[in-house]
Order: sequence, then structure tokens, then C-alpha cells
Amino acid sequence: MLNRRELFRRTAVLAAAAALPPRLQAAGGGELTLEAAPTQIRLADDGGPPLPVWGYNGISPGPVLRFEVGETARIRVRNRLDRPTTVHWHGLRVPNAMDGVPGLTQDPIPPGGEFLYTFALRDPGTFWYHPHFQSAEQLDRGLAGAIVVADRDEPAVDRDLLWVLDDWRLDAQGEVHESFGNLHDASHAGRLGNLPTINGRLAAPLTVRPGERIRLRLLNVANARVFALDFAGHAPAVIALDGHAVTPHAPAGGRVVLGPAMRVDLILDCTGEPGSTHAVSDRAYPRRPFELTTLVYAGTPLRAMPPPLPVLSAPALPVPDLARAVHHELVLEGGAMGALREALLDGERLGIRELARRGKVWALNGVVAPGHHLEPWLHAAVDSTHVITVDNRTAFPHPIHLHGHPVKVLARNESASPFRQWRDTVLVWPRERVRLAFVADNPGLWMIHCHIPEHQEAGMMGVVQVG
Ligand code: C2O
Ligand code: CU
Repeated sequence: MLNRRELFRRTAVLAAAAALPPRLQAAGGGELTLEAAPTQIRLADDGGPPLPVWGYNGISPGPVLRFEVGETARIRVRNRLDRPTTVHWHGLRVPNAMDGVPGLTQDPIPPGGEFLYTFALRDPGTFWYHPHFQSAEQLDRGLAGAIVVADRDEPAVDRDLLWVLDDWRLDAQGEVHESFGNLHDASHAGRLGNLPTINGRLAAPLTVRPGERIRLRLLNVANARVFALDFAGHAPAVIALDGHAVTPHAPAGGRVVLGPAMRVDLILDCTGEPGSTHAVSDRAYPRRPFELTTLVYAGTPLRAMPPPLPVLSAPALPVPDLARAVHHELVLEGGAMGALREALLDGERLGIRELARRGKVWALNGVVAPGHHLEPWLHAAVDSTHVITVDNRTAFPHPIHLHGHPVKVLARNESASPFRQWRDTVLVWPRERVRLAFVADNPGLWMIHCHIPEHQEAGMMGVVQVG
């Protein structure tokens, strides 16, 4: 059987471009079906035996769901797994009953069962879907897919590409490693994999034309891996974060950073010389850089100079009333090399040893979440503005995600955030304090949690009650 090293070696000689997952588009507002079930994928055309994973409609990542802003989605989710599941529409402002959180907004969909999700697409951009039941395992086994909501008019580009970034943890036999639910992953960086893929494939070189303008939608569906992509010899411009338009800008330090669950839309102008090749590499972990893919220039130039950068339409989100905002602190504590000594679990004050024995090692404001069903941490009147200062007192970065409400990133360590950033997931680095604002305009019970599911399930989640 082909092992991972062998797979890596073989990718070097593959010539086909990374395959795009197929699209699923409902004709005239009709119903879509997503069936969650075990399936198999091929990491490469000659990449050895197929890899058993879990997918939607037989593929992983699942089909790209395409909509236009203002449309109503009707998505029937069928569960053909041997355990319950749900689907969460990550980043979309859906009604609370459609949010897919078991024990909080719906009952889990039992094996053999189904659930019809319906919601309006309120915002254009790049979003995604994934289970919210036993997420650490279900997400890691391959249940995830992209959602692209087109605006009424989109900027002209030569190609609109999507890279679903993931990393798999494979064992020596080249199968998904069964080490789910272990305390080491939970108390450290989460389940880091050993095999990065683009759209479920070992990335093959991408052929581009000189002068071509590509809109590249990046989505990180990995449980734990942070990507920091370096497009050597190119000057990509960030035009949207987590779906929402930002002032177009060069990424800081030339690296496009995506924590788990995050999206970045780029304009990539192919300014390389005809016949040249350029590595796209990851530099998130300085001691372990790797080449993700290569841009290969072929064909006659499309244009000599890149056209001016497009500006997407500004996000149509409620504007925080900062003068009247209610302020909150969200202190992240715990994990390996952390200072957490004790915390509350189900109303009981427990020492870190006892907590760890129960698989719980992270706390928000001194409270360890036993599951999704929690006493709300924050109560918000409808349409009130809230400012949350997230204070990371741990040794690890955490992608903090709020359901149902995009947040405006106001400041990091007291320096104001540029580019008008609206996000649904904010990467908070160790010892960083990040100030966020949102308008609580969507009634219901909403999760706020770390999007490394190993951390989430080990206590790092809370609930915000609106209305
Ligand atoms: Cu992408 Cu609570 O999830
Ligand atoms: Cu975390």
C-alpha cells in the first residue's frame, strides 16, 4: 500500500490542475439535497488506493453550493452516517432555528433521518457548511463544503477559483488516523494533520496564463492547521475576509493567513514571465515550511499590465453604535503551558487535574463548557451593540467564531484594525487582546467558540442570547 511519503513523491510528477469540486445549484430556487455518508476519495490520479472518508453526495469536500444574494436556500440534509449529525452554515446570517447546533437550536438528525434547512442568503461572499455534532471527528473525516453567494454584480476576472484547504492526519497505512478524542490534541494545537490538500486532492501545479487575473477564494476547513500562504513573485490583494468585502490591500508581510474556518478572497494577477514557475508555499510553522502547489505559466499573454483593483460592494451589515455599546471581556484560559488551575464545570469548581481527567482543559471566563447546551454568557437586547475584548491567556492561537452575527474587528492590542474588517472567525494569538463589535440583531441562542473543534469540545465554547 502506498504510504504518505510515497504520495508526496508522486505528486511532484503529477501534471493535472487541482480539480474543482462539482457545483450544486438549484434551478429556480428549487430544493438541494446533501447526503452525509461514508465515501472514498482519490488524493491523486495515481495516488494509490482510495481513501475512506465521510462526504456529502459522495465527495469530500462536498459540492460547492452556489447562490445569488437575495435567494432563498432550501437544503434537505439526509443522514446516512451511523451516528447523528447536523449542518451549520458557517458565516451565514440564518434564522436561529436553521443554525444547526444540536441541543441548542435543533435536535440532531438521527441516522437515516433528514432535516430541511431553509434560509435567505443575505450576504454575498465565500462561506461554508459543516456538521456541528461531534465536529472534531465529523469535520476531520471530510464533512465540509463551500458556499459561494454571488453579488448582483461581481468584478470582472478571467477565472474565479476556489481552494478548499485541508490537512489530513493519515496513519502508516495511509488511512485517516483513528486518534480522535485524545487529550494531547485537545490540550495542544488541536488535530494537526500530516497531508495538506486542495479541494481534497494533493495539489498539482496550476497552469496560468501570463497576465491572467484570478479571483482566488481560499477556505480553510482543517481542524487545527493555520495556513500562511506565500505566493512567491506575486502581489496578491485581499478583497474579502470571511466573505465580507474589505478595502483591497496587500496581506501583512506578504502572507495570506487563514486560521481554521476562515476565508480570504484574493485577486491574484499572474504577472510572471511566460514559461516561468512559482511556488506557492506555506510558512505558518517556521520550522516546517512546505510547498503547497506551483503556478506554471503557459500560453500567450492576456494583457501586459494588471487592470486597476476591483472594489466589492461594501458589506450591508448593521453598523455598531460604539458610543452606546455594552462592553464585555472574554478571557481564554487553559491548555498545555497555560496557567489555568481551576474552573467551573456544570456549576462545580474543579482543579485542572480533575478537569483533564474528564477531557476538559479550556475555559472561557473561568467556565468550562460541558456541551452545546449552556447557560448564556452574554444576554443582548435586540439591536444592541456589544464590544467584546477577547483576551488570550493561553500558549496557542484560537480562531474564535460567533454564530449568526459577523463581528467588526476594531483593534488588536490597542492598535486599530485597518481595512474595515468584518469577520465571523477571528484568530487571536497568544497574549493578544482583540476588540470586536457586533450588533445583536438576530434573535436566538448563538454559539461563540474556538473553531479548533478539539478545543471547543474540551470546553472552549459559550452561548450568546439575543432577545
Ligand atoms: Cu463553523 Cu460553530 O462553527
Ligand atoms: Cu482554540
